[in-house]
Amino acid sequence: FTIQANKPTATVAPTMWGIFFEDINLGADGGLYAELVKNRSFEFDAPLMGWKINSTKDVMYGFYFGSALQILNQPDKTATNPRFIRVTLQHTKKGELGLTNEGFRGMGIKKDLRYNFSVLYRQQTAKAKLHVALVTEKGDTLASSVLAPAQTDNRWHKGELSFTAKATEPKAKLQLWFEGNGVLDLDMISLFPTDTWKGRKGGLRADLVQLLADMKPGFIRFPGGCIVEGRDLAQRYQWKKTIGPLEDRKLIINRWNNEVQARPVPDYFQSFGLGFFEYFQLCEDLGAAPLPILNCGMACQVNTAELTPVESLDPYVQDALDLIEFANGSQETKWGRLRADLGHPAPFQLTMLGVGNENFGSPYLERFKVFQEAVKKQYPTIKLVGSTGLLSAGEVFDTTNVALRKLNVEIVDEHNYSVPQWFLQNAKRYDTYDRTSKTKVFVGEYAAQSVGMTDLNNKNTWRTALTEAAYMTGLERNADIVQLASYAPLLAHVDGWQWKPDLIWFDNLSVMPTPNYYVQKLYATNKGSVVVPMLYKNSLPATGQDSLYASATIDKATQELILKVVNTADKAQSAEIKLEGVKKIAPTANVLTLRHNSLEAENTFLSPRVVIPAETTLPTQPKAIQVELTPYSLTIIRVKLS
Ligand code: AHR
Repeated sequence: FTIQANKPTATVAPTMWGIFFEDINLGADGGLYAELVKNRSFEFDAPLMGWKINSTKDVMYGFYFGSALQILNQPDKTATNPRFIRVTLQHTKKGELGLTNEGFRGMGIKKDLRYNFSVLYRQQTAKAKLHVALVTEKGDTLASSVLAPAQTDNRWHKGELSFTAKATEPKAKLQLWFEGNGVLDLDMISLFPTDTWKGRKGGLRADLVQLLADMKPGFIRFPGGCIVEGRDLAQRYQWKKTIGPLEDRKLIINRWNNEVQARPVPDYFQSFGLGFFEYFQLCEDLGAAPLPILNCGMACQVNTAELTPVESLDPYVQDALDLIEFANGSQETKWGRLRADLGHPAPFQLTMLGVGNENFGSPYLERFKVFQEAVKKQYPTIKLVGSTGLLSAGEVFDTTNVALRKLNVEIVDEHNYSVPQWFLQNAKRYDTYDRTSKTKVFVGEYAAQSVGMTDLNNKNTWRTALTEAAYMTGLERNADIVQLASYAPLLAHVDGWQWKPDLIWFDNLSVMPTPNYYVQKLYATNKGSVVVPMLYKNSLPATGQDSLYASATIDKATQELILKVVNTADKAQSAEIKLEGVKKIAPTANVLTLRHNSLEAENTFLSPRVVIPAETTLPTQPKAIQVELTPYSLTIIRVKLS
């Protein structure tokens, strides 16, 4: 190889390597959002889904020795959260009448950790008590306490208690027993661990956020994905319904509930406990640029493919304008004021906004233009991200892409899921890409599929990760046009997934980063600020010759040269790297290697460290590096320039 360190070809955008978060595979509810109670507000389609009544009698609709549990529905009073449970007690003793919540595939409970239980209650007399307990699958008690609701003005109040678990249990349940007399209305029955990210009450799962933080993502694209589109437009994602008091965030069915192509998940709903305020806050925590995607008036093509007529797009466009004001507006504005009232007076620094997810063709373009005109008129500096759909769609993908460029859209969002071979062949995709327009590229969703797209047998093999690493050399080399890229999907619960492969697997207690995760992390944490040519055999970039793929950057802040080389051969290869345009380099380089002898290797919960990065050092010459590239490896070399 020859590095031409004094001939930079592109600036690497700070946003280059980021993450795409979608509530798929229990990514939010049951995942990142640390709420342990499923269907806390009884708003799932079946109001008692996730709940079990503890009683030997049928107490739902009738009275059992004067006691009863009834789900009442009052949409005229509370449109966003109309249902609650009415508990009627008459000399009821502990153990006679109660409820158990099963959690999202159980509740992961940790020994010695404190848990916060809360509930909204309403009553006229204070004669009822709630015995609250965490129990194992077998019914052994892990923690317990008693709540005696005190307010009697027949308005909603919050009751809270906390307790510490005496043992670890992966599939615990929350058990409530009622005792006493009177009528007690309950809603928003909730349980959170106290070890959330940054210790925020009602916050996010710290172990998952930590993995994201470790990636140092340049941006976060949220909230989807297909859930932006919804099965139909009534079930689309609407950001305004995801902020403010939790009980006012109107729950909807998740578009991945009962997904036909994959595994049925009938209990998949969106509580929006992780809503737009929390997304912006997460971006800020992680130092990532926020990239929200909004519905453009089109429902998911796999479902209803419902369209809002172009002349009726106003509410959609208004949502976009209001979102920009919510993120960036001063406290003098309506939405900026609301952001401040929610606890964030400073702006969230929104610079990009996506219009539509995976929408394409003339129906999309017609609608995109309406958004573009309105947004640009009011917020000319906001960069719009236009959707081109799936690369596999072929002609319509290309024509949409070309049309968006003609509209001078700042960024086009390209999605691609394909077999590993595609990623190798397309390491040079952007070398010859259209550079006649100013439009930049966001590779918004990509992942190598070990078997095939949406195949349930897909795996996060080392083969998939290695081929993605090879492909990413091409993204980096073409950083003049590729300015953002993110793997998809990000998270998957082992007992609640719909889509494979995924970047990070988790269960109720632990997390399992895949080889693909380490590839993403290594790229993002070894980014560099300018691209420099890395020629193979003195002529072309390495895009598969002798099974090698490579790219080079310089980090101007640290004055380091950063080289990435992927060897997809089953044999070791010696590489001599000559450095032009440098005075000399430090005598020792740092080397990070991700490798495995088997392309079928995977990380698992039992063996999570099968494919993980290793760090070593390497002696160098003043203007050359000699390195042994192990079979099937990604090697990253960092060396100081002087
Ligand atoms: O990442 C999973 C899905 O793939 C996304 O929701 C959608 O945008 C794409 O088709």
